[in-house]
Amino acid sequence: MAYALPGLPKAELHLHLEGAIRPLTVLDLAREHGVDLPFRDLEEIERALDFKTFLQFLAAFQQVNRCLTRPADFERIARELVEDLVAQDVCYAEIRYAPMHPMRRGMTFDDVTAAVIAGLLQGQREHPNIALALICGLTRQWDCTAAAGSAMGWAGRGLDAIDIGGDEAGFPAEQFAGLYRDALAAGLQVTAHAGEAAGPESVWAAIRLLGVKRIGHGVRSVEDPKLLTVLRAEDVTLEVCPTSNVRTGVVASYEEHPLRRLWDAGVRVTISSDDPAMFRTSISQEYEVARQAFGFDEAELLHATRNAIEAGFCSEETKRALLHDLALPARGGRVMLGREAAP
Ligand code: ADE
Ligand code: ZN
Repeated sequence: MAYALPGLPKAELHLHLEGAIRPLTVLDLAREHGVDLPFRDLEEIERALDFKTFLQFLAAFQQVNRCLTRPADFERIARELVEDLVAQDVCYAEIRYAPMHPMRRGMTFDDVTAAVIAGLLQGQREHPNIALALICGLTRQWDCTAAAGSAMGWAGRGLDAIDIGGDEAGFPAEQFAGLYRDALAAGLQVTAHAGEAAGPESVWAAIRLLGVKRIGHGVRSVEDPKLLTVLRAEDVTLEVCPTSNVRTGVVASYEEHPLRRLWDAGVRVTISSDDPAMFRTSISQEYEVARQAFGFDEAELLHATRNAIEAGFCSEETKRALLHDLALPARGGRVMLGREAAP
């Protein structure tokens, strides 16, 4: 498959493992395990992805998750995802997985996490020119206590950070303040979905009550000039996912999307694909959207890549190596230094 902008180094901070499963793998896993999904072929998947609202999208995300019935499935999709990223010249990616879905189907946090890490490492062994970090995505509408407690035990062992996703409007950040404090104390870094399905007040809560320096989406910050000033002053990074926001109805169209306004306001903006398989996009396509719909030139696209690396949850050593490579005029054929052994 040909991707847009070949050769341009890309980095994405906001990528859901379960939202990136190849459609053929979803069908393959469901068939293999006898899972009765509401779609049985590629055409039916296409139809199931025709959600009109954010909550309908979350329901579809839950359906797709049902094809994952064993830890080995997570290993497979993690490995395949690394392969897909490398094919698009992604030099750095942060992948978030949602362990609370399989936990509700009887799998353990530790088994799923170990499988995801094994898959990422295998992908990285096969394609050493990519650096990775791993984020545990907690589902805000469910009781996160057990998953968060387990996540803390993986700090420094392949897990870098936590996130809260899911129903932002129904389950505000306030409820997670203690959990975020504990996670930070345990050595995990933090990000949070905010300003996607709720307004700027949700972003205020995330930065003030959860202590995050990164926001998943955050696009509705544009409604509050004072918030923009704070995001700029405190160097908060937005993980912006343009096509996701159009597909889930957060904004009506690319024309109305605030990517360019946030960028021009001096906020640290990065570009991501969120759930590429579910939104019929890819990180290359999102960079291409930034170019075509928002007028980003090559220097600005590279700046977005640099923003993502600088705001990444990887080690300072990895950042230095990635930024060094980014500054080189040509890519390919070189051994890239500084890749971590574990994601
Ligand atoms: N889970 C997967 N994708 C998500 C998104 N964009 N927002 C909230 N939760 C999600
Ligand atoms: Zn997301």
